[in-house]
Parts: sequence; C-alpha cells; structure tokens
Amino acid sequence: MKIGFIGAGRMATTIGRHLIGAGHDVVLSSSRGPEALAGLVADLGSAASAGSKQEAAECDVVILATNWADAPEALKGIDWGGRILIDGTNAHIGEKPDISAAGVARSVAALEGRTSSEIVAAMAPGARLVKSISNMPMAWIQDFSPQKPKTLLFVSGDDRDAKAVVVELINSTGLVALDLGALADGGAMQQLGGPLSAVELHLVRRIIR
Ligand SMILES: NC(=O)c1ccc[n+]([C@@H]2O[C@H](COP(=O)([O-])OP(=O)(O)OC[C@H]3O[C@@H](n4cnc5c(N)ncnc54)[C@H](OP(=O)(O)O)[C@@H]3O)[C@@H](O)[C@H]2O)c1
Repeated sequence: MKIGFIGAGRMATTIGRHLIGAGHDVVLSSSRGPEALAGLVADLGSAASAGSKQEAAECDVVILATNWADAPEALKGIDWGGRILIDGTNAHIGEKPDISAAGVARSVAALEGRTSSEIVAAMAPGARLVKSISNMPMAWIQDFSPQKPKTLLFVSGDDRDAKAVVVELINSTGLVALDLGALADGGAMQQLGGPLSAVELHLVRRIIR
C-alpha cells in the first residue's frame, strides 16, 4: 500500500520505517514543502518520497502526524473523498507536551468532554477516521528487525471496513493491532489521559485466531 503522512517528524519517520520494512511505500509531507524533506526521505530509502500535503492525503491510507496545535492548519482544505485517515496525535495543549499529571489533566480538560479523535474527525469531513498509533512513545518501537517485539497498537473507529484496513496494515509490520471498538469509546480509552495511554503491551502468545 501507499501510506501518506501529514507531518514528517519523530512519529512519521518511526512508523514510516516499520511500514517500509513491511513492503509499503510512504509519502512524507510537512508545512515546508517536499524539498525540505529531501535528506529525510533519502535516509528512509527508495520506498520513501516527499510530497505536498495534498499528495500525501491522496494515498491509500493517510496518517496525521503533526502536533495537536498544528492539526487544524495541517488538515485545512484537503478533499478526503472517503479515504482513510489515521489520527496519530495526542491532544497536548501548548507548544511542548507536558506529560506531568497536571499537564495531562489540563490538556484533557481542554477537550471539554469530547474525544480528541472526534475533534479531528470534525476537522476532516469526508475522511474515514481511525484512531491509532498515539498510545505510546516512539522510543518503545525503535527495533525495526523482523524479530522485533510484537508491540500492541490500539485501533478504534466507526467505519468497520476502514478499521479492518488499518488493522491489517499494522499487523503487516509485525506490530499488533488491538481493536478497541468505536471511535468515541475506544478513543477515550487510548487517547491522552485515557487508561490505555502510554501503556506498553506486547503480544506474547495467541492460541486462537
Ligand atoms: N514522538 C512520539 O513518541 C509520539 C508517539 C505517539 C504519537 N505522537 C504524536 O504524533 C504527533 C507528532 O509527534 P512528533 O513527535 O512526530 O512531532 P514532531 O517531531 O515535532 O513532528 C511534527 C511534524 O509536523 C509537521 N507539521 C507542522 N505543522 C504542519 C502543517 N501545518 N502541515 C503539515 N505538517 C506540519 C512538522 O514539520 P514542519 O514544522 O516543518 O511543517 C513536523 O514534521 C503528535 O501529535 C504526537 O503527540 C508522537
């Protein structure tokens, strides 16, 4: 598959490497245009390219990989046409994430009772939104070898077909997708401040598929 990233920082490059290792192509984009990403994509190899934000958004699956404050601008003006958008953001307010208990509580309070993915969905009308990837620091998945730990990534969404595509995509990398159900319920579990946020879990054994 061809996976587009809106944002080309730590999260995009880490997930991009896992996807490339599984045989997918990735298109990275940022606010500075493709030229600014030339060194980065060269480092990722021939399966990576840099594109405009719209080019990234036209891929089979698109991953929102910007900081929370930049998401509205990053999503502005994109025609989604029913494509799948994975919300990989954590809704930290402020310029730098404050992961203290008080900082997380302030960020969660700013959501005013909504889940962050419902807010992202409203910013991306016409996209089939799936929440995933955001639940763990990328430092935990820096092993790109085929023998890497089967780290769990949670998935939630209201469109069953879109979610199935994302589950298959994650599983193709050797990481393991765990479906938490609908966008609002599952999103509340895995988003910043939720009970499954920043919890490192690995699949050790699966007897029945
Ligand atoms: N780092 C982690 O461990 C981790 C783990 C899970 C989830 N996340 C989440 O993933 C998101 C990104 O985190 P990160 O650590 O990758 O941040 P980062 O390294 O700061 O990268 C953010 C990227 O977004 C781009 N960007 C900013 N404004 C943009 C716009 N208007 N349009 C397109 N791209 C734009 C930035 O490039 P320009 O400024 O050049 O445009 C940069 O490439 C955050 O929401 C974070 O909570 C991060």
